[in-house]
Amino acid sequence: MGFHVKKHFDKVLDINKCHLQREPSNAIRQFIKEYALKNDLEFFDIRKGEGFLRTLFIRTSTQGEVMVILVFYYENKENIERLLNTLGEKFPKITSLNYVINGKRNDTISDLEVKTYMGLPYITEQMGNLKFKIGPKSFFQTNSKQALKMYEKVKEFADLKSNEIVYDLYTGTGTIANFIADKALKVIGIEYVSAAIEDAKENSVINKIGNTYFFSGDVVKILNDEFIMNNGMPDVIITDPPRAGMHPKVTEQIKKISSNKIIYVSCDSATQARDVALLADAYKIVKIQPIDMFPHTHHIENIVLLEKNN
Ligand SMILES: C[S@@+](CC[C@H](N)C(=O)[O-])C[C@H]1O[C@@H](n2cnc3c(N)ncnc32)[C@H](O)[C@@H]1O
Repeated sequence: MGFHVKKHFDKVLDINKCHLQREPSNAIRQFIKEYALKNDLEFFDIRKGEGFLRTLFIRTSTQGEVMVILVFYYENKENIERLLNTLGEKFPKITSLNYVINGKRNDTISDLEVKTYMGLPYITEQMGNLKFKIGPKSFFQTNSKQALKMYEKVKEFADLKSNEIVYDLYTGTGTIANFIADKALKVIGIEYVSAAIEDAKENSVINKIGNTYFFSGDVVKILNDEFIMNNGMPDVIITDPPRAGMHPKVTEQIKKISSNKIIYVSCDSATQARDVALLADAYKIVKIQPIDMFPHTHHIENIVLLEKNN
């Protein structure tokens, strides 16, 4: 039990302490490993499709909340309950203890049921004056302190005057959408994880924000002419896609929409550069601000402000 070796889906590296993660993350991981060895619980072998303990997610918030999701290869009520009870007793700091049965070939849990065993089915994060509820399947930036800086920079680049329609593509739990809503006429968020969209809507309610509208689905499919007719032509588009960047059809559609400003947030500068090049005949780069979101790694978050060429 350890961390994935880069570029090897089937290799696991045994590491005692990860210096990038906030405690009690290491303590929880080490405890589960020792418990498994002592109680003869087998670790999952993805090549053979054998074993019991599959993957482990640990999420911590700056508010001291801790979410743990244990993923098992198959149902074994007795072993699962014994492990979860022991873990809950040993770590009262865990505020959301969940588990998933994943008998599939791949490790993703987005299409599986997450069962909350103890505590709440979410953790809460604070960003500036806003609170965000984060469910087990929802994306949230891993570095809250730097994420806040990133959101402030996005808001500065957007320079909204309270009369703009803003689209927030790949909105996750609606963090950027909710963060900038006080300066916009309305904000439209699109995201394909439906549980994240539910969180996004709830985050607007919690923070008493009434001008955000969230839609669940693939940006490629949702962002069509009919959608734009129904929701209004955006003055500003904010886009924060996953590492793979945007689908070429999305960049095409963005060009067609031809809003005055695009703010492109990315955690992979290579795909960002590729997409910006696709937009280059219509948009020029006005400002760039990298953010050290993943300290002690070579990864960097980068924000680009694009404005129409003419
Ligand atoms: C880098 S995250 C950005 C989240 C958000 N802007 C934030 O700062 O918390 C990218 C998000 O895009 C979503 N996503 C990935 N591909 C998508 C697609 N084709 N259509 C809609 N959403 C997608 C992911 O689930 C994830 O929530």
